[in-house]
Amino acid sequence: MFTIKNLTYRYPTNKTDTLNGLNFKIQPGEILGLLGPSGVGKSTTQNILIKLLDDYRGEITYRDRPLNDYGSEYYQEIGVGFERPVHFGKLTADENLKFFKKLYTTTADTDQLLKRLGLYQDRHKKVGEYSRGMKVRLNFVRALLNKPEMLFLDEPTAGLDPKNSRIIKDMIQEFKDRGGTILLTTHLMNDVEELCDRVAFMVEGRIVEINTPKNLKLAHGQRKLQVEYSNQDSTSLKEFGLENLGQNQEFLELINNKKIITMHTQEMTMDNIFIEVTGVKDHV
Ligand SMILES: Nc1ncnc2c1ncn2[C@@H]1O[C@H](COP(=O)(O)OP(=O)(O)OP(=O)(O)O)[C@@H](O)[C@H]1O
Ligand SMILES: [Mg+2]
Repeated sequence: MFTIKNLTYRYPTNKTDTLNGLNFKIQPGEILGLLGPSGVGKSTTQNILIKLLDDYRGEITYRDRPLNDYGSEYYQEIGVGFERPVHFGKLTADENLKFFKKLYTTTADTDQLLKRLGLYQDRHKKVGEYSRGMKVRLNFVRALLNKPEMLFLDEPTAGLDPKNSRIIKDMIQEFKDRGGTILLTTHLMNDVEELCDRVAFMVEGRIVEINTPKNLKLAHGQRKLQVEYSNQDSTSLKEFGLENLGQNQEFLELINNKKIITMHTQEMTMDNIFIEVTGVKDHV
């Protein structure tokens, strides 16, 4: 869908580059997670890909054509969820959606989207009176307004309660199942594990690692087996490396002679992979 080569960008007011030669691809039909510490340039990257920022260096192609060749027709096929929801506060949700619908040739059934996101009963309320979570949900409706094929979502579930976050994640998955492509920026590792086909880690304005969650875990994981067993009146825990486990005498003795309570393989969590790859503990 997208090929990004040596993307470099400096904000006109800054003395240093924010993006330092970014290279990655977004494959059609995938959910690609864009992860990295705060301030690394994730939202900047999204804003370049949605043509809000120009004057970048490097090459970006969308559907095998330079992004610069596209005009306003580009906005008919992409959907954007901005990091900070921007709505007209003095208008109701319904009026906001009607306004933005006018910009598009194809539009979604917004009543259905509002119902799904639990906003239908508040559709005639001024958005300025919405709670933060309600604005975030309305922002997601906006992203789907033109029935896009490509979605850019910048922290779509940030600050939502678990129920609403679940609804949005289900809708993201359904969008993908219908053949859609998504660039998903998030700090929530659960969302990454659940949704992303691949994960790209950004450090110092570059992509330093890009892989499937499974391969990341294999590459960074400890590959251990934790065995919990009965030891007379108490329980004990022991860890074994998975390598050559079948020849590990201590392990064999344990499973032959003790009452096993649980056995779990220890995988690296995405949180730990994030810290290992970026060298930073995320702020959320
Ligand atoms: N409009 C702007 N003008 C100048 N500098 C900016 C502007 N917007 C962002 N920056 C700077 O660019 C860098 C990257 O910001 P960006 O918002 O892309 O980070 P991010 O990875 O999305 O962070 P977060 O996880 O906190 O959302 C930061 O140093 C930020 O201060
Ligand atoms: Mg951001």
